[in-house]
Amino acid sequence: MSAGDRHKSVYLETFGCQMNELDSELVMGALRALGYGFVHEPDAAGVVLYNTCSVRDLAEQKVRSRLGEMAVRKRKEPDLVVGVLGCMAERDGAKMLHKFPAVDIMCGPGELDKMPALLDNAVRTRQSLRADDDDAWARSARQLALQGDTSRRSGTLAAASDTLEMLDLSRSVSPIDHGGSAYVRITRGCNKFCTYCVVPSTRGAEMHRPPDHIVEECKRLADAGVIEVTLLGQTVNHYRFEHGAAVRVDGVMQPQKGRSHKGGHARDVYAGERVTTFADLLRRIHEEAPGIQRLRFVTSYPRDFGDDVLAVMRDSPRICRYLHCPAQSGSDVVLARMNRGYTVGDYLEFVERARAFLDEPEQGRPLSIAGDVIVGFCGETDADFEQTKDLLRRVKFKNNFIFKYSPRPGTTAFDRLPDDVPEQVKRDRCNELIALQQEISDEVGQGYVGQTVDVFVQGLSAVETKRAKRAQAAHQHGNGVALTIGGRSVGEADEGDCCDTGACGCATSVQDPGAANGHIQLTSRTDGDLIVVFDCPAGTAPDAMIGRIVPVRVTSAKGITLQGVLQP
Ligand code: 5AD
Ligand code: SF4
Repeated sequence: MSAGDRHKSVYLETFGCQMNELDSELVMGALRALGYGFVHEPDAAGVVLYNTCSVRDLAEQKVRSRLGEMAVRKRKEPDLVVGVLGCMAERDGAKMLHKFPAVDIMCGPGELDKMPALLDNAVRTRQSLRADDDDAWARSARQLALQGDTSRRSGTLAAASDTLEMLDLSRSVSPIDHGGSAYVRITRGCNKFCTYCVVPSTRGAEMHRPPDHIVEECKRLADAGVIEVTLLGQTVNHYRFEHGAAVRVDGVMQPQKGRSHKGGHARDVYAGERVTTFADLLRRIHEEAPGIQRLRFVTSYPRDFGDDVLAVMRDSPRICRYLHCPAQSGSDVVLARMNRGYTVGDYLEFVERARAFLDEPEQGRPLSIAGDVIVGFCGETDADFEQTKDLLRRVKFKNNFIFKYSPRPGTTAFDRLPDDVPEQVKRDRCNELIALQQEISDEVGQGYVGQTVDVFVQGLSAVETKRAKRAQAAHQHGNGVALTIGGRSVGEADEGDCCDTGACGCATSVQDPGAANGHIQLTSRTDGDLIVVFDCPAGTAPDAMIGRIVPVRVTSAKGITLQGVLQP
């Protein structure tokens, strides 16, 4: 491989949430259009990029350790280009450059549209470097590649949104690399300012994408064979687009007055009069992109969840009966300290209302509710924790992502509330809650045994993926199957995003029937997001099953991982 080729080969690793996965996909599309190709191993790449997450310290630690490895490598390969994208780039900016001089590119989530230009700049600069170039020169050359970083805060929100919108709009939809499933962003940023959370400062104020753009994107995805779309937003149900309204830097909508001559009469009109709500948006996508057989959305915010949305969900057969709606705690005192803006009573009222609209188990459409919980938040007492356990029992969540509180610099909690729950107590509470959630998930899973459910096939199960990897390692040129969806191996959990226990619903605890009977085991998801593993029929290639919705009879359940048999 020539030096030129190497600089066109990129390794991109994504940490954290689905929003980051989508950002990575869009950046990959933009770079592909410039002739870059992607490899699965960092060693094979001349460009190594990390799309980072700052929500918890653990995710940041992983990136810091990767950067340490890259610094060692860069001593031998000075023309290697290293980039940090996403929240760490936004948060740590210049500080990180001092600490990790191996980094060439920093690009916050609000700057990703500039990535292709930044990378081209860095690659060109690197190519003109020689191994014996003096360090100071090399560093100043790198600085050139950093210019696009952190300007978002200085621009108006509208301008930031416009350029970012270009990134979403430029999405290239290729029938081969989506596996039948795709994310579509509907809002960016967050205005909630939960006291523990870095997102409002790393991703900025909440902005809503124009509904026409979103619907158009869904239609294009459907035309390319996508049958499942997951709409993304930090508080996705908060979506609200005021047509023609101007947006001030502080995120407040400002109606623009104008004159209308419609119908021959002149009258004052206020842009912003016409609004597309989240319910309107769901209805439009459902009606205008019928090729999308599964429409889902994450992450919902428990407050402001209107009946209008629930009614659209009830009346739209292709909208999944699945809500990911984090409660975070079962104690009103803790919720207030977290600035969540609702009480446990409000949360339970919402769950009851959602169930009244959407829970129809006898029609084979139960409502499935998932959440997130933080344990050991500042000042959390044993009694507060007991209330959280109570909430889990009452709601009967399908699953919960359970996190130990991780103090994040730049948040209100970090500045004002002592992190006073000892680490061991956090760990004990985390384990206790995971065990409780496991019991609840077992009960939820058992409810499916004997039923036939429609499942969306995603790829090889976790055990099958591991087996394929083992086979690959054993035979250097072996024929292990490497199936990926959206660039990552199917069956891999969102590493670092949960307590790594299976409480997140990853299929790690499933037995290994494929090994015994020679069948390849596939993983799939129900409408309510339960995982179902089943054997690929003999004589059918797994690829032919992936991205399809098929009926499976559930034969057993372990937590929310169900095992089943494909039905004719
Ligand atoms: N510590 C632990 N968990 C956190 N989350 C957000 N910030 C923190 C933090 N500082 C969790 C919340 C959120 C999920 C994405 O991450 O539960 O819903
Ligand atoms: Fe963070 Fe709260 Fe916004 Fe979710 S709603 S992204 S937890 S600030």
